[in-house]
Amino acid sequence: MTILAKASPSLALIKYWGKIPGATNIPATSSLAVTLDGLSTATRARLLPPGSATDEVIINGEEQPLEAYIHVLDRIRQGAGRDDRVRMESTNTFPTSAGLASSSSGFAALTLAVSRLLGADLSTAELSSIARSGSGSASRALLCGFTVWERGSTTASAFLPATHWPELRIVVAVVDTGPKSIGSRPAMERSRTTSPFYSAWVERSDELFAAGKDAVAARDIRRLGEAMQQSYLSMFSTMFTSSPPVFYWQPTSVALIRFCAELRDRGIPAWETMDAGPQVKIVTTRDHAQTITTELAGRHPELRLLVCRPGGDPEVSVEMESE
Ligand code: PMV
Repeated sequence: MTILAKASPSLALIKYWGKIPGATNIPATSSLAVTLDGLSTATRARLLPPGSATDEVIINGEEQPLEAYIHVLDRIRQGAGRDDRVRMESTNTFPTSAGLASSSSGFAALTLAVSRLLGADLSTAELSSIARSGSGSASRALLCGFTVWERGSTTASAFLPATHWPELRIVVAVVDTGPKSIGSRPAMERSRTTSPFYSAWVERSDELFAAGKDAVAARDIRRLGEAMQQSYLSMFSTMFTSSPPVFYWQPTSVALIRFCAELRDRGIPAWETMDAGPQVKIVTTRDHAQTITTELAGRHPELRLLVCRPGGDPEVSVEMESE
C-alpha cells in the first residue's frame, strides 16, 4: 500500500523571519499567509521491509541526506507508537529550494503521507506542529486559505477560508530556478545574531501582523499591500545588514519591484513580496491578473509565470498495488 499526499506552498504576506533561541522553529515574529492553489508537492510514502535500518527520502528523483527529515519522521513514529522505516518520494510542480516555499509544501505533504501510512491518529494542530519542526512555514501549509502562525506558537491555525477572498490572485514570477545560495534556516539565524536591525524588525512585527489581518478581513488590497511591503522590506533589511550580508535578489527581482510600483501609479493593484530567493510574487485581483501577466511576459519573455488563487486544500489518498 502506498499513501499519496498533496500539499500546496504557504506564501507569507506578513513574514516569519527569526526563531526564538534554543527551541525548534518557534517563530520570533507572527506571520499571516495564504496557501497557493495551483502549485503542489506530491509525496508517496510506503513501508520499507521489516529490519530496514534507515528511512529513504527521494525528492525530484534524488536521494536526500536524512538529517533534515529524521526529527519529523521520529515524531510521527512516536505519535503512531510504531518503529517502521519508510520510503518517501516527493515531486514538486514548481522549482524546488528556490524561494518558492517548496519546503513548506514538502514537509506538509511528507507529514500527512507518513502519519496516514503509520496510522497515527493526529489532529491538524499536532500535524502542523510536527511539520513545523521540519520547516517553520510547513506549519501553515497544512492548512488551506488564509492562515496565521503566531510568535512563540508551536502550531499554525486557520484564519479565514479561501472563499473569504476568492478574487485574490498571486502572480508568481520565477526569476531563477537554481537552488538558493544559503538556506532560510542559516540565513535567519545570521540575521538574528548579527544584524543591528533584527530587534527593530521583531518589535515592529506585531503591528504589521495586526495590519495585515485587518486588511485581509476587510478584503482591502491596498492596506494589505502596504503592510506586506513593510514586512518583506523590513525582513530583507535584516539580511542586507547581516555579517556577512545575505543577498537573494537579482537584477530582474529589482526590475519587477519597480514594475509593480509603475503599475500602482497607473491605478493597478500590484503588490509584490519576496522570500528567501529571487522570485517575486505579485498579489493582485482577478480583474488585473491578465494585464499583469501579459505586460510581464512582454517585458521579460524569459520569466516563467504562474497564477495562483487562495486555496490549497491538502489531499490524502490510498493507492493499492496491483497484483
Ligand atoms: O519555513 P522556512 O524555514 O523555509 O522559512 C520561511 C521564511 C520565509 O519564507 C522567508 C517567510 C515565511 O514566513 O514563509
